[in-house]
This record gives sequence, C-alpha cells and structure tokens, in this order.
Amino acid sequence: MRESTSQADFWRRALVVLALLASAGVSGSDWESLNKDGIHDPRSPAIQQLQQPADALSKLTPDTAGNMVRWVQSLEKGEINPRANIRPDTKIRVYDSDVLLNLKGGMPIVRFPHRQHTLWLDCVNCHDQLFKAEAGATKFSMLKILEGEQCGVCHGAVSFPLTECFRCHSVARPGQAPRPSLPIAIPSGAVPPK
Ligand code: HEC
Ligand code: HEC
Ligand code: HEC
Repeated sequence: MRESTSQADFWRRALVVLALLASAGVSGSDWESLNKDGIHDPRSPAIQQLQQPADALSKLTPDTAGNMVRWVQSLEKGEINPRANIRPDTKIRVYDSDVLLNLKGGMPIVRFPHRQHTLWLDCVNCHDQLFKAEAGATKFSMLKILEGEQCGVCHGAVSFPLTECFRCHSVARPGQAPRPSLPIAIPSGAVPPK
C-alpha cells in the first residue's frame, strides 16, 4: 500500500469480500446434520449408515471459526492419524522452516510455517504454481488472498477462514500491539489507520 487512496480502496474492497464471506456462512457455523446439509438425500436409507459430522468432529480440539476444529493441534495431539500415502514408495517430505512475509506492511508480520503445512500437504501443492520456493520472490497481495488466490486457495475454502487475521499476521512489529484494532467501517474521506 503506497499511499492513502490505495489504502482506503484496499479496506473498502477487503471489507466487501469479508462481508460476503461472513454472510456465506464460511466461518463460525455449527455442524449441519447430513439430513439437512443440502448434499445428502434425506430420504435415502443409506444416510443412517453414515457418521454425522457432529459425532466425528466434536471429539477433536475445538476452534471458534471455520469448521470448528483446530486441525493442526488435533493432528499433533494424535486425535487423528490421517494416512499420508497410498503407495508405499511415496516419499513423505516434511520441511521445518518458517518464512516471514509482509515485512513492509502495517499489519503484524505474517509467519508462514512450512512444518504445519507439510504435515498435510506435499511441496507440489504449492511449489512452484502458487509460490516460488525462494523467500521474497512471490508478490503477495491481501486482496488476491481475499479473492481466493495465493493463501486464499485454501484458507477460507478448506483451511481456517480469512476472518482469523492474526493467525497469519502473528508477529508484532517493534512497538506494535499483537492485535492492533481493525477499522470496522470507513467514513467517507477518512484515511484508514496504517
Ligand atoms: C491466510 C493468511 C492470512 C490471513 C488469514 C490474513 N492475511 Fe493479511 N496478508 C497475508 C499475507 C501473506 C500478506 C502479505 C502481502 C504483502 O506482502 O503485501 C498480507 C497482507 C495484508 C495487508 C497489506 C500489508 C499490510 O500489512 O498493511 C493487510 C492490510 C492485511 N493483510 C490485512 C488483513 C486483515 C484485516 C485480515 C483479516 C480480516 C487478514 N489480513 C488476514 C496473509 C493473511
Ligand atoms: C502451503 C504451501 C506450501 C507448501 C506445501 C510448501 N511451501 Fe515452500 N514456500 C511457501 C511459501 C508461501 C514460501 C515463501 C515464498 C516467497 O516468499 O516468495 C515458500 C518458500 C520456500 C523456500 C524458500 C524459503 C525457505 O524456507 O527456505 C523453500 C526452499 C521451500 N519453500 C521449500 C519447500 C519444500 C521442500 C516443500 C515441501 C517439503 C515446501 N516448500 C512446501 C509455501 C509452501
Ligand atoms: C494448499 C493449501 C494451503 C495454502 C496455499 C496455504 N495454506 Fe495455510 N494451512 C493449510 C492447511 C490444510 C492448514 C491446516 C488446517 C488449518 O489450520 O485450518 C493450514 C494452516 C495454516 C496455519 C496454522 C498453523 C497452526 O499451527 O495452526 C497458518 C498460520 C497458515 N496456514 C498460514 C498460511 C499462509 C500465510 C499462507 C500463504 C502464504 C498459507 N497458509 C497458504 C493449507 C494451505
């Protein structure tokens, strides 16, 4: 964000996308029963055979957003043990390296943790289609993320939603509060906070 007009524009567009995400029920919903989820046929006898999402998910470490499960913690505590490979010769690669992004912005710095991602994903899920495998080589944009690109390919879709700003913006800059307040509305003509 180089100057105030583009910042005001950023917040206006970001708030529109966030309002859409919230109204679409992407975050903070309880588990819908299979009979009511609009995907399964409630008249089918097979529905009795299936486990209800609430039965399966309520036993895992709870979250306050998205599908209400803290998936990384659940995995690390051994509550779930997903199968990593089908073929025995598949190489499982876990990479333990954090990348700090957004070094020049006004929000807290973004810490991208490789380890937690490669517990679920392989390198090719991200490299090099989504991101270059070189710190600082990708041009990131929060608007693109909100529009479902970059981190937004997964976050807001299959992993925790974009309303959880400080799970990504997790490293405070010197002298910055860990969770600076966000503008909830932008009066016309006002310059949003940095
Ligand atoms: C999935 C991770 C993720 C989430 C969640 C997320 N961001 Fe970001 N955000 C990023 C990344 C990565 C960048 C880096 C873009 C860049 O380098 O300019 C960024 C950049 C930004 C920027 C521009 C740079 C700056 O610091 O001024 C703003 C503003 C911003 N985010 C606000 C938010 C707000 C507000 C939320 C919550 C509503 C949010 N972000 C949620 C990952 C995220
Ligand atoms: C969920 C997405 C994702 C996955 C999966 C992923 N990476 Fe990355 N990787 C990133 C991002 C984002 C960056 C930072 C890119 C930038 O700054 O332009 C990065 C940067 C890197 C870098 C340069 C910085 C550093 O930490 O050394 C290397 C090397 C790298 N990745 C290797 C790997 C390897 C090896 C794997 C698989 C074991 C992997 N990555 C899996 C997203 C991912
Ligand atoms: C290919 C899919 C994918 C992409 C792209 C992706 N993530 Fe994730 N991310 C995941 C999954 C899956 C998890 C684990 C499930 C969850 O926490 O919801 C996760 C978890 C996280 C966590 C939480 C780790 C923890 O300890 O709880 C952070 C922080 C995060 N991602 C940041 C980012 C940022 C920043 C980007 C973009 C630079 C990004 N992710 C891109 C899939 C992705």
